[in-house]
Amino acid sequence: MIRRKMIKFISHSVKETMTIGSRLARHLKVGNIVALSGIFGAGKTYFTKGIAQGLGIKRLNEVKSPSFVLCNIYQGKRLKLYHFDAQRLPDAKELLKLGLTECFYDGVCVMEWAEKLPRLNRQPNVIQVKFTLKGKTKRLIEIGYNRLHKVTRSYLRLQ
Ligand SMILES: Nc1ncnc2c1ncn2[C@@H]1O[C@H](COP(=O)(O)OP(=O)(O)OP(=O)(O)O)[C@@H](O)[C@H]1O
Ligand SMILES: [Mg+2]
Repeated sequence: MIRRKMIKFISHSVKETMTIGSRLARHLKVGNIVALSGIFGAGKTYFTKGIAQGLGIKRLNEVKSPSFVLCNIYQGKRLKLYHFDAQRLPDAKELLKLGLTECFYDGVCVMEWAEKLPRLNRQPNVIQVKFTLKGKTKRLIEIGYNRLHKVTRSYLRLQ
């Protein structure tokens, strides 16, 4: 059984959502998987843009969910970002067997619609981020992580 900790945030804007993503990015290590869950329009892709920003990826307007390819790969300063969307994958389980391991060598993986992959969520190297709509521009963002990730609320705080 993996011991998990949880940090909660309220975001009031796209900018704040990106800031939380960008701060989380500083904690990411090679092989981490960030599993994003929440309904359509919850903010998963904007959060991913924030992670991309935090990893030093320049062309943020190119950060969007993959539609014709299985995975978008962006080169950051320190790590690559492998961006998946389980909602758009023809066979997500198959992909987990084939592709995800690549990010264990030189990058991190972000998976949108991770609730479709319950097995992924049980991996110890997974950081879970759950989005809940609380209003037109208000989102509850809950980050669940393994104790070993050393993610602290003060480090992630909005400034
Ligand atoms: N606080 C907020 N954080 C993020 N997005 C917000 C916020 N407030 C409003 N929005 C709006 O919500 C939408 C979020 O879009 P985004 O593509 O990030 O969602 P998503 O969870 O990836 O959806 P999908 O499941 O369709 O991929 C955008 O239209 C954005 O302008
Ligand atoms: Mg999306």
